[in-house]
Amino acid sequence: MEFALTEIQQMVLETARSFADNELLPNAAATDKTGTFPAAAVKTLAELGFLGVAVDEKWGGAGFDNLSYAIAMEEISRGCASTGVIMSVNNSLVCDPIKKFGDDFQKKRWLTPLAQGRRLGCFALSEPGSGSDAAGMRTTAILDGDDYVINGTKNWITSGKEADVCILIAHSDPSERHRGISAFIVDRQESPYGIGKVEDKLGIKGSSTTSLVFDNVRVPAVNRLGAEGMGFKVAMSTLDGGRIGIAAQALGIARIAFEEALAYSRERSAFGKIIGDFGAIREMLADMATEIDAARLLIWRAAVGKDRGENFGKHSAMAKLYASEMSARVCHKALQIHGGYGYVKEYNAERHVRDARITEIYEGTSEIQRLVIARATQVAFDTSQS
Ligand code: CAA
Repeated sequence: MEFALTEIQQMVLETARSFADNELLPNAAATDKTGTFPAAAVKTLAELGFLGVAVDEKWGGAGFDNLSYAIAMEEISRGCASTGVIMSVNNSLVCDPIKKFGDDFQKKRWLTPLAQGRRLGCFALSEPGSGSDAAGMRTTAILDGDDYVINGTKNWITSGKEADVCILIAHSDPSERHRGISAFIVDRQESPYGIGKVEDKLGIKGSSTTSLVFDNVRVPAVNRLGAEGMGFKVAMSTLDGGRIGIAAQALGIARIAFEEALAYSRERSAFGKIIGDFGAIREMLADMATEIDAARLLIWRAAVGKDRGENFGKHSAMAKLYASEMSARVCHKALQIHGGYGYVKEYNAERHVRDARITEIYEGTSEIQRLVIARATQVAFDTSQS
């Protein structure tokens, strides 16, 4: 097993780290406080090729691999968790399914501007009444002539306010469960839909989370992504990749929380010595450092599996499960190390706790990751017994 990064992967790491250090970290607290979309940062992500990291250059992307994507996601999220999720959704949940399931017309028309960052994407699967039970959705897409007519409401849409292209998953045959679901590219200019409630959230406040309202919205049939009835598989395989991005986001948040806690432990004194010299604090820091590295190894394994064309769904679920729960633990300890200062907004520790929390929920809760892992492990177990 080779742990060394290639020259390109190293270059991606250094580019992302330098952007995070110089542009994201200095602005992250203000982005959180004002809840404003980090437009300047997203523009720079586009210039760096970070909105289409693993998309071929032919289609406007940077042409790097999925390991590079995971590396960049960690660094960007270390700088600003809100910018991280905007990047993750555009790459994993929007570019990726068009790259995998789109035809050349769709790639030229949508993948290219999305990967170049000239347009921004969102992904609409969940609904007010269905989240973990994704196939329980009620939004319909009924064929009428050359168009599908969309009716329903989608919920928890990252970048819902700013995005102008939406990957929509809906029932084209409501009499079937998952086999009646299809996927669509909905272009907001061509098929205007409504932006519903804009959520007031605990964290990642710079990224908008909205509902989308479809009231007899007509979408040309040529915008269907993949065959009719294939939409659930499009969504599931898209989320397999998305979970690598969110795992890397969780890792980036944990890293900055750890780095700040370590620095604080070297500055703060109590009982005549710096607190970093107390065993209780050193043990916390040791556990944090170990868990951060363990998460990175799981994430890199899933990303390399994706690059190799392997079935990486179980590994991405493991990476997402572990990294998100690890991030919550690390941020909790980082706040604890800061004592009372951790609980107030003068320091960043409380923000990291708030930002990390969502990574245990979106793109599949921890409970869903365990279900995916258990099912895949059971299959492997059954096979090994036969
Ligand atoms: N890849 C391809 N196909 C898959 C698949 C995968 N990873 N997982 C399942 N499928 C296929 C199955 O093979 C099956 O196909 P057949 O009928 O042909 O055999 C079909 O899909 C149905 O599979 P299941 O019976 O396993 O489906 P289920 O109803 O039991 O659901 C689930 C499975 C894993 C619970 C799924 O519903 C799930 O992942 N739920 C969580 C949804 C989720 O992550 N939502 C996040 C929303 S995105 C977001 O957060 C937005 C944001 O902006 C950040």
